[in-house]
Amino acid sequence: MSVEPPGPVASSWMAKPVDAIPTGALSRLRAEAAGCRACPLWRPATQTVFGRGRAAARLVLIGEQPGDREDLAGAPFVGPAGQLLRETLAQVGIDAASVYFTNAVKHFKFVPRGKRRLHQRANAAEQAACRPWLAAELARIAPEVVVALGAMAAQTLFGNAFRVTAQRGVWQTLPNARPALATWHPAALLRMRSP
Ligand code: URA
Ligand code: SF4
Repeated sequence: MSVEPPGPVASSWMAKPVDAIPTGALSRLRAEAAGCRACPLWRPATQTVFGRGRAAARLVLIGEQPGDREDLAGAPFVGPAGQLLRETLAQVGIDAASVYFTNAVKHFKFVPRGKRRLHQRANAAEQAACRPWLAAELARIAPEVVVALGAMAAQTLFGNAFRVTAQRGVWQTLPNARPALATWHPAALLRMRSP
């Protein structure tokens, strides 16, 4: 697979602008991201949670940000939301081995509360700081289809006017003409299901 040149070509995977997109094999991107200090989220977190999956993946699934379990494991979607996501993929006949899993933001953000760490949503500046990593993953993998899970990933792909409530499940066209869509985040489904 060829390496996309940095700049407008690679950034056309998403509506939000990205200045400089790192290039190279996923293993190299992962190693670089492990040392990222582009926003304050790295400091209290355990590690960068880079995407997981093969460069040949045809589908990229983008979540919001790692949670407590992902922060400790160093891999995306290994906690309860990830469990539901994998079950859902299995139900619709998608082999998880053919999917690349990643997040819009690659560090866990939290506030300590006793022994627990309460999830906090990454702000706009943190999301912007982390965009080059997602742009780099998409440019490298060049998947056939991109699926955004939840509003953060959806707005990164499609712009701030996008509403998951109104536009979920509706095929969109990325600036580079690839198909993409957004749907509920699995954590939102868990919250709907519990009451
Ligand atoms: N929720 C996300 O958005 N990403 C993960 O990796 C886990 C939970
Ligand atoms: Fe870098 Fe993203 Fe982590 Fe911020 S959240 S330090 S931009 S990898």
